[in-house]
Amino acid sequence: MSRLVVVSNRVAKMDSSNTGSQGGLAVGVMAAMGKAGGLWFGWSGKVENRDDIEPKIETQGNIDYATVSLKTAEYNLYYKGFANSVLWPLFHQRPDLMMYDANDYRGYLEVNEKIAKHLLPLLRPDDTIWIHDYHLIPLGKMLRDAGVTSPIGFFLHTPFPPLDLLRTVPDYKDILLSLMSYDLVGFQTQADYRGFYMSVTYGLKGKALPGDRYEYQGYSCTAGVYPISIETDALRGVGKTGEASEEFKRLHYSLADRQLIIGVDRLDYSKGLEQRLLAYERLLRKYPEFLRSAVYLQIAPTSRGDVEAYKDLAKKIDRHVGHIVGTYADFDWVPLRYLNRGFRRNTILAMYNLASVGYVTPLRDGMNLVAKEYVAAQNPDDPGVLVLSEMAGAAAELDAAVHVNPYDIEGITQGLNKALKMPKEERKERWQSMMDVLKRRDIHYWQESFLKDLSAAPHGD
Ligand code: F6P
Repeated sequence: MSRLVVVSNRVAKMDSSNTGSQGGLAVGVMAAMGKAGGLWFGWSGKVENRDDIEPKIETQGNIDYATVSLKTAEYNLYYKGFANSVLWPLFHQRPDLMMYDANDYRGYLEVNEKIAKHLLPLLRPDDTIWIHDYHLIPLGKMLRDAGVTSPIGFFLHTPFPPLDLLRTVPDYKDILLSLMSYDLVGFQTQADYRGFYMSVTYGLKGKALPGDRYEYQGYSCTAGVYPISIETDALRGVGKTGEASEEFKRLHYSLADRQLIIGVDRLDYSKGLEQRLLAYERLLRKYPEFLRSAVYLQIAPTSRGDVEAYKDLAKKIDRHVGHIVGTYADFDWVPLRYLNRGFRRNTILAMYNLASVGYVTPLRDGMNLVAKEYVAAQNPDDPGVLVLSEMAGAAAELDAAVHVNPYDIEGITQGLNKALKMPKEERKERWQSMMDVLKRRDIHYWQESFLKDLSAAPHGD
C-alpha cells in the first residue's frame, strides 16, 4: 500500500501542545492522518535565523513528522505577506484588506521552493502526496518539475473566490496554472468549485471537459468538491473526558441554570465577530427576559497578531465587548465572557454540550468545523441549537441549523431569540437531521473519497 505524505503549513501533534486554537486544517488532517499514518511535513511554527537548518524528524504513533523553521524574512514575505495579507483576505472576499507587494509573492515562491527542496529527499516512489491549503499552492508543480511521478493532490481549506476577485492579484494566472499542475484539486463547496471553473474557462480561456477535467496549454487536472468533516462518532466520548477539566467545572458551576451561548473562533475578520456582538447586544435590548438568564461565552484566541488588519480587529472587538459589559452587567452577572486564549479540544467539546446555542456567524468561511463539532457534541435527548451563517461552507450540509445572514444584525438577533426559545421536540428533529449528514459524511469519508479520486485521476509525470 502506498504511503500517505501530507504537506501543510501547520502540523498538529497528538500531544499536549494541542490547545485547540489551530483551526480547521490541523483538526481535520490530524483525524485523517491518525487513521492512515504516514509522513506529515510542514512548518515547525518557529522563526530561526540559521542557514544550516535540516528538517527535524520525530515519530508519534503511526505518523512521522518532518518540520522546518522559517527565517524572519521568509516568515514576513511568505506567511505574513502573500499568504495572510493577499490570499487570505482575497479568498475571504475582502480585497479591501489586501496588501499586495510583488516581493511578497517572490518570498512565497521561495519558501515553497525551500519546502520542496527539503521534502524531496524524504519521498519514496510509491508515495501518494496530498498538499493542503493556500500557503502551498505552487508546491505541487515544483515537485513535478523536480521529477516526482507520484500522484499529487491539493485541497483548499478556504473558499475559492469568483474570477472578478481573483483577477485583483497580478499573479492570478500563475496561481491557476499551479493549481492545474495537480492531478486532483479539491474544494469545500460547489460555490468554490464554480469559482475555479469560471477562472479556468474565462480567466485562462482553458477547456472544461467531461469528468471534471480541465485543460490549458499542456496543463491538465481533475477538480471536485470534498467538504471536510469531523470524527462524528468519537466526539461525544472526547467531550465526556473534557468534563473532568477544571475550566469546564468552573464554567458549569458559574452558569447555575442560565442558558449558555457559545462561540469559538480564531480572532479573524472573516469570522463576523463584530456583527455577532452587535446582534447579541440587540437581543439584550429587545428581549430583556435574557438579562440575567443568558450568558454569551466567546472564546477567540489571538491569531496573526502581527498583521495590521488583525491588530485593528482586536481593538474594535475590545471596544464592543467593553460597551456590552459596561451597559448590561450587574454586580453578580455579566452578559458576556470574552477570552483571548485557546483551550484543549476535549474541554471545548464539553462546553459545546453545555451550551444551549452554538453561535457560528462567519462573514465567509471555507467550512467551519466548529459548527459541525458543536452538533456532534450535543446530548441526543436534549440538544442545543446551532445558529449558523449562510456564508459558512458548513451551511450547505447543515440545512437544519437556524441559518442567518451574518451581515443582517436584526436577522441574527431573531435567530438567537428563536434558538434560545426553541421547544425540545424541534431541537431534537433538527439535531437528528444534521447528525444523519455528519454520520454519513465524516472525516474518514472525506479522506477516503479524496484519496480514491486522486488514485483514479490521470496523472502527469
Ligand atoms: O484554511 C484554514 C486554515 O488553514 C486553518 O488551519 C486555520 O483556520 C487557519 O487557516 C490557520 O491559521 P494560522 O495562520 O494560525 O496557521
